[in-house]
Amino acid sequence: MSREIRSIRAMEILDSRGNPTLRVWVTLDSGVMGSASVPSGASTGRFEAHELRDGDKSRYGGKGVLIAVRNVIDVIGPRLHGTDVSQQVEIDGAMIELDGTPNKSRLGANAIVGVSMAVARTAALAIGRPLYESLGGPAARRLPVPMMNVINGGTHADNSLDFQEYMIVPHGAASFSEALRYGAETFQALKALLKARGFRTAVGDEGGFAPDLDSNEAACALIVDAIRSAGFRPGSDVAIALDPAASAFASGDSYELKRTGSGLKSSAEMTALYADWLDAYPIVSLEDGLGDDDWLGFQAHTATLGKRVQIVGDDIFVTNTQFIERGIKEQSANAALIKLNQIGTVTETIGAIQMCRDAGWKYVISHRSGETEDPFIADFTVAMGGGQIKTGSLCRSERIAKYNRLLEIERELGADATFSSPFATSPVA
Ligand code: PGA
Ligand code: ZN
Repeated sequence: MSREIRSIRAMEILDSRGNPTLRVWVTLDSGVMGSASVPSGASTGRFEAHELRDGDKSRYGGKGVLIAVRNVIDVIGPRLHGTDVSQQVEIDGAMIELDGTPNKSRLGANAIVGVSMAVARTAALAIGRPLYESLGGPAARRLPVPMMNVINGGTHADNSLDFQEYMIVPHGAASFSEALRYGAETFQALKALLKARGFRTAVGDEGGFAPDLDSNEAACALIVDAIRSAGFRPGSDVAIALDPAASAFASGDSYELKRTGSGLKSSAEMTALYADWLDAYPIVSLEDGLGDDDWLGFQAHTATLGKRVQIVGDDIFVTNTQFIERGIKEQSANAALIKLNQIGTVTETIGAIQMCRDAGWKYVISHRSGETEDPFIADFTVAMGGGQIKTGSLCRSERIAKYNRLLEIERELGADATFSSPFATSPVA
């Protein structure tokens, strides 16, 4: 049956924050049709690919994406007409060429990534295979350990916390579905604890609670209590991962912890603070502990902490091989966060992952704080086999959609599904 692209359509939809984003459909000559929806970040890295917004203040405060929609329909669609949908590398290359800018600012990375993801999905439908298998081949059987963001702060919540994400990592479970249960039960225990201690249980952008705690550290202590109260062992059953998203409170190599009034710290002092936390809490992963231009700080940070904990670079690398390559050379981290829309095509994202694998680095496939109901990254994570996903808390359907899709994949794979912790059991219990 013909796999040639007949048409590409797009429209403006809303993301989980109520801001405009794109949905894209690819239709083949055979009539097969696949779609994808585009996520959007709030604490974006400085060098992310460009998210094109209309800037027309009379619509959505300037955040409309009608120009990006038109770029899909009028510019990208005609160029890809007649192309074999299974040629992902050529298709992504053609869009990069058509855009012609280093950061996809002409057509918009949101337009390009929407087409790229919809092409991948349609290619899977065309061969009648699930997306994870179409992208990852028969070896794609590893279900990820989830990093579940149960306490939100920073740019994702209007509360007292400087740090953006406090996540639970149920890596001691025997399977993905058990890990999901560990996470959900810990989330409910955390809610009960917050209520009992007089804190509010309203949630932030990624569905984690957003209480006004007295200090950034108090969130770690609260999570340990919740893990215990849910009947799990902190560290060996359920560990902690942090994403302070320090770019949001950095200026060069100094860090101002304004919300908690903890004052100004140097990058060495931030690293010392994390080292203390590693002694006190079962932390297995630390992302963006420093800001995205503090390359020297990251090097010292990784030299000091990198043997004890996974050091993940998000804003500093922005899923871009140019920055990951520098990070590998300078030993700035030992893992990268991977977000499709930070770089703008499926092909370049896979290139970033390949670079991590070649260097012996780990990688974590991630959602954005502004999401849609599209569970694309669930399949993508299984396809890439890194064993880690970051896709938010245990409530709000745009987060749960990814977990539910992973449950489906686990069921589909049956006895072939694998699940294993990428982390050593934390020494702190
Ligand atoms: P963002 O945050 O999607 O708002 O950029 C997620 C993260 O920092 O990991
Ligand atoms: Zn991050």
